[in-house]
Amino acid sequence: MKVLVVGGGGREHALCWAIARSPRCTKLFCAPGNAGIAGIAKCVPIDSSDVAGLVAFAGEARIDLVVVGPEGPLVAGLVDALEASGIKAFGPSAAAARLEGSKGFMKDLCEKYGIPSGTFGRFDEPVAAKEFIRIHGAPIVVKADGLAAGKGVILCRSEQEAYAAVDRIMVERAFGEAGDEVVVEEFLKGEEASFFALVDGERAVPLGAAQDHKAACDGDTGPNTGGMGAYTPAPIVTPAMAQRVMDEIVRPTIKGMAAEGAPFKGVLFVGLMIENGVPRVLEFNVRFGDPECQALVLRLKSDLLEALLACAEGRLDQIDLQWRDEAALVVVLAAQGYPGAYEKGSVIGGLAEAGRDECAVVFHAGTVASEGRVLAAGGRVLGVAARGSTVREAQRRAYEAVDRIQWPQGFCRRDIGWRAIDRQG
Ligand code: AMP
Ligand code: GLY
Repeated sequence: MKVLVVGGGGREHALCWAIARSPRCTKLFCAPGNAGIAGIAKCVPIDSSDVAGLVAFAGEARIDLVVVGPEGPLVAGLVDALEASGIKAFGPSAAAARLEGSKGFMKDLCEKYGIPSGTFGRFDEPVAAKEFIRIHGAPIVVKADGLAAGKGVILCRSEQEAYAAVDRIMVERAFGEAGDEVVVEEFLKGEEASFFALVDGERAVPLGAAQDHKAACDGDTGPNTGGMGAYTPAPIVTPAMAQRVMDEIVRPTIKGMAAEGAPFKGVLFVGLMIENGVPRVLEFNVRFGDPECQALVLRLKSDLLEALLACAEGRLDQIDLQWRDEAALVVVLAAQGYPGAYEKGSVIGGLAEAGRDECAVVFHAGTVASEGRVLAAGGRVLGVAARGSTVREAQRRAYEAVDRIQWPQGFCRRDIGWRAIDRQG
């Protein structure tokens, strides 16, 4: 099979790494890819937002399956456009991707189908949004309705902060069109976890749970980022909790989306808040998490390509995924300054040494190759993933590999996995 992976981050390197191991994969392409992906796939210089360019390439190259990594092209209708051209794709249609693309849509769905989530209001003008805030009080959460690169969620400790957040989104238009509407939502307390399931429109196969570290600095301090590290499984998601999430959240969501005429296919990523053993939905994403995906693939024993294809073809009943009875953890190396301004172009050394441990893999995110060297080309630059019998062992291996990398212009957190290690010892 000829496979095209769309995207060029650590998540897409991890997907390529797993797909390349499949005996069914005869040729692997990635658009646009990165320096690490170039070692296992043919990179094609098409941006992941270029729907027409991707459809044209997939047609010319006779691609048998397109696997879409990021949410942007999904919300923009890449899967619809591919399918309209007779090309098979893994990922939701634009209508189903609204689960991530519109927070208001997602909240309405939860309410209509009894999926546990916080109370909320949906507003297309600021006065009514502020009235809702005045009635409900703080703490409260104000969210831009549309995609805002993970920045459209504002946690407000006071009513004043919440009024300012509404103005920032709706009046100052800090997130552009994403702020045509706001969702104002109950502030949920508890411990966060991410739960992943493959969905084929009707059926779901769980992929397990992970926890990520969004803050830039040790001790979960500093500004929020796309994610500085993650591990799976997440100890808070016990087998009983996973069953509850499947029964109370994933299955009703699949049923609801089908009933709305937008059956969901692809990866359903449930952002959970768990308080006193009760799971509630913070958000849905319609794609693999990054960096969570880099840890997930290390635990998977089964053929990922087989599973993604079955998902795209609506026959997940034929898939029984096997996992290593181990933990996996990923540490993100980012350019100094990230998530603020950072420099590009510094040289990264020691990559071969870092990948020496057979239990560790260095995934590339923002890298480019130049004259035989690997250069930093983004904010999050590498993901160093490792597996081990416990989160602690996976953590030790990951940091051993990190310490072999020579990149003075980069930084990483040194405490990825602390919550799981505290819990498990
Ligand atoms: P989202 O993009 O909706 O996942 O929000 C980003 C982050 O904001 C989440 O991972 C949570 O840490 C936090 N968050 C979002 N919604 C809520 C909420 N209703 N209550 C508390 N924290 C929230
Ligand atoms: N790491 C969180 C996300 O991918 O949205």
